[in-house]
Parts: sequence; C-alpha cells; structure tokens
Amino acid sequence: MSPEDLLAAARDAAARAYAPYSHFTVGAALLGEDGKVYTGCNVENASYGLTVCAERNAVFRAVGAGCRAFRALALVAPRCVTPCGACRQVLAEFCPPEMPIHMGSLELSQPFRSTTLGALFPNPFEA
Ligand code: THU
Repeated sequence: MSPEDLLAAARDAAARAYAPYSHFTVGAALLGEDGKVYTGCNVENASYGLTVCAERNAVFRAVGAGCRAFRALALVAPRCVTPCGACRQVLAEFCPPEMPIHMGSLELSQPFRSTTLGALFPNPFEA
C-alpha cells in the first residue's frame, strides 16, 4: 500500500475525531502485517487528561482485533505533526524501529514527510 493510500485512510479517521476542546482533529492509520488497515482518531474528554491520541487508538483497535505487527503508520492533523512521546512508546511496543511513519496534513494538497519510528524514538523503555 502506498503512503498516499495510508494517509487517505488516516484522513477518513480524522473526520471522526472527537476534539471539541482543542479542535485539533487527528487521524492515524496503521498497516498491519495481515494487510489490513487499522485506523484511530483522537477522543477528547471534559477531563482533559483522559484524552487518547489517534495513534494509540489505532494501536489498541488493531491489537483488539488480533493484529500485533505493523508495516507502516500514517498520521494526519491540521498541520504536519509527529506522534507525541506517549504514542511513540506505545508504538515501540509493537512496531520495529525501521517502520516508516508518514506525516501529513488534513489538506490533501499539502506535502507529507516520512521518517521511521527509530529515528523519532531511539532507545525505548523495555521491561
Ligand atoms: N493528539 C493526537 O491525537 N496525537 C498526537 O500525537 C498528539 C496530540 C491529539 C490529542 C488532543 O486531542 C489534540 O491532539 C491536541 O493535543
């Protein structure tokens, strides 16, 4: 699957974000080793700290569906952003350091950039 196709799935997910407090809608799409795409959006809460990011929701949905290995992640937001630190640690639980991460805007016409999990988050905590 191309980065563009995975980013399109992330944009679909972002359309379902629940972000009445920040108005910062985020969508994530994980390509599983099983070939399926698992998406997530951010879900905020009136108690702000209970908010869950799009990336973690995508990981948890995938794991709940039985997929624990991934080939790529796409992430979209109002502007191009990298995954937050908490999400990087959760991604590192299931994804290899060489896994590509494509980051784009909600706006299809904007360019995206790509990196790897290992470049963003070297030396994750391991139990
Ligand atoms: N957010 C994500 O969904 N992913 C990130 O990696 C960083 C931030 C969400 C959380 C919150 O709903 C909004 O973006 C603003 O921080």
